[in-house]
Amino acid sequence: MTQPRPLVAGNWKMNGSRASWKEAESLAERLAAGNGAQIDVMLCPPATLIAQFASSLKGSDILVGGQDCHSESSGAHTGDIAAEMLADAGASAVIVGHSERRADHGETSDAVHAKAQAVHRAGLIVIICIGETQAEREQGDTLSIVSSQLSGSLPDDARADNTVIAYEPVWAIGTGLTPTLDDVGEVHHHIRSVLRDRLGEAEASSIRILYGGSVKPGNAAELMAVADVNGALVGGASLKADDFWGIISVYGEK
Ligand code: PGA
Repeated sequence: MTQPRPLVAGNWKMNGSRASWKEAESLAERLAAGNGAQIDVMLCPPATLIAQFASSLKGSDILVGGQDCHSESSGAHTGDIAAEMLADAGASAVIVGHSERRADHGETSDAVHAKAQAVHRAGLIVIICIGETQAEREQGDTLSIVSSQLSGSLPDDARADNTVIAYEPVWAIGTGLTPTLDDVGEVHHHIRSVLRDRLGEAEASSIRILYGGSVKPGNAAELMAVADVNGALVGGASLKADDFWGIISVYGEK
């Protein structure tokens, strides 16, 4: 069975301005110089920058994604953005269910499921985030939380070419803490088995399962080498081209 093509995606969260283009440009230049690996690279800047980044990066090796979307395609939802609008702006993917959305905006797995369906309706790739809190880990509930978030958020039409799962332990996001490699392996293996039960072996074995939470150039190689880890969702270390490149390059040279 061939391994899924790795994906390294940068989630800029609520950071960046038009001047941040220089970071994306520098990354694109490095990838174009042929030092990149055989992987997909994506930047998910704030919504204000998607159209600019997508048009400037057209033809480059960098995909552009959104960080969230509404479940409906249009309507009276002040401040919200439809998946179709992100597609129109040039995005090829959308992150849904990030723990900061689940915590700050009370998003349930039902809401995330509806958003994931919207992303597919718009013809884009959905990146569905799941992960346990510190308290849930301490109570030994990690695998059951991850299973229920995944089962509740995953649309029925999920396939390897339209869906990516990101395992992000909430307590590891932005803290500099990471789970042990054994713990990462255990959760990713578990996610793969939940996908297998739901979608069958062929799709489940090809869906990319990213690890996210304090991925840095210094720990990326060991994390990305864990079985069933098919790339990374990177927050803080994706803001600077040097750091993000340090993570991308663990996948080796072309
Ligand atoms: P971090 O964020 O890399 O800054 O920990 C990861 C994420 O929230 O996707």
